Amino acid sequence: MDGYASIIWFSIKCLFLVPINIIKDGLVLRFKHGRLLNADLIHRIANRTFLAHSSEYLVDCLVNPYMKKSGDATYISNCPHRNSIEHANIRLRDNDLATVTGTADAQFQNGIDVQMRWFVKSNTFDPKKDPVIYYMHGGGFRFREIDNMIVFLGHIHEAYPEEAIVLVDYTLTSRIKEAVFPQQLLECLAGYEWLTKENGYQNVTLLGDSAGGNLVLSLLELLQKSARPAPKKAAVISPWVNPTVHDEEVFAKQEIVDYLPIVKILEWGEYYIPGPEYINNPFLDVEHNFDNSVWEKVLERTDLLVTYGGDEMFCDQVKRFIEKLKSSNPSKFSAENNVAVDKLGAHTSPLFFTKLNLKNWLNYNINRELVRFLRSS
Ligand SMILES: *[C@@H]1O[C@H](CO)[C@@H](O)[C@H](O)[C@H]1NC(C)=O
Ligand SMILES: *[C@@H]1O[C@H](CO)[C@@H](O)[C@H](O)[C@H]1NC(C)=O
Repeated sequence: MDGYASIIWFSIKCLFLVPINIIKDGLVLRFKHGRLLNADLIHRIANRTFLAHSSEYLVDCLVNPYMKKSGDATYISNCPHRNSIEHANIRLRDNDLATVTGTADAQFQNGIDVQMRWFVKSNTFDPKKDPVIYYMHGGGFRFREIDNMIVFLGHIHEAYPEEAIVLVDYTLTSRIKEAVFPQQLLECLAGYEWLTKENGYQNVTLLGDSAGGNLVLSLLELLQKSARPAPKKAAVISPWVNPTVHDEEVFAKQEIVDYLPIVKILEWGEYYIPGPEYINNPFLDVEHNFDNSVWEKVLERTDLLVTYGGDEMFCDQVKRFIEKLKSSNPSKFSAENNVAVDKLGAHTSPLFFTKLNLKNWLNYNINRELVRFLRSS
């Protein structure tokens, strides 16, 4: 079903299903998990219901355009250059495509078009020394950044006003698979080249959540493998480390406490991969295809922070990834210095604040850890 009819059908379903699921899941949470419903869990159940029933049309024609409007309308004070856009066409190296896809003769015909969007940059910014965050947003590769992410960036900006923030508008996936892996990764690489090589930004921190976390991690590997300069720091929030290798048992157990529905995780993963043979690609399923020697060197060059929520669907894959990082380079990556956990947090919990209120946001340990990491030199 397409068009308006699908939206009406979506609304009717949610009108009935949201209260039913709140009661049903509330009982399961109470009697099977010993947890009482609170506002947070109710939000998660409602959001899971919405997401599970969202149609293609709804996402493309309503949610994504609405999120753009709503994000742009979110007022953040002292934000010079907010939303100023820069276009670039970046010629990558001939062998980049071969490195990423693992096929010997893959080559580029043209440069990569990339759109970069500033969230903030002070008028006196000095690329040679002032710090800049290069942000890769999440959303299952399927959604643009939601309005809550703008509030999140607002919190980061208020906590650390000296730091500039720039986003990359990578191409989103869809059912018809027009834009699949590695296009998004190469666009992120092009954005990095634009920042570092064309414009000389030297004090770069990569930041990404969920699918954006996957892009940050793959980009770190790619920068290492292609012998490009590395960023000083990188932080990933609930990174979707394995978009196409699924922890079925963990998903079944965690779904009730998180807001991501299993059906959509499978669907978005499917939209992102070109084909099943990519299951062994280290730039795609980063944890599943963990390469010890590459990560040892990545961690030599870049300080990494990994955060996740104890209630989230991806908690096990992120924990396994953390263990692998620890053993690949124990002196550069440890639970004490490089990991922050939100014990009862859902997926990407630092992003789920609807209003800008730095004091409240910093009440959460995971957010304080993130700021501490970003500010550390
Ligand atoms: C990068 O920025 C941080 C924070 O302002 C600063 O402490 C550090 O010295 C900068 N690094 C370089 C190499 O300029
Ligand atoms: C669910 O969605 C609402 C509306 O956007 C939002 O306010 C809330 O923070 C979300 N919560 C979670 C955990 O998904």
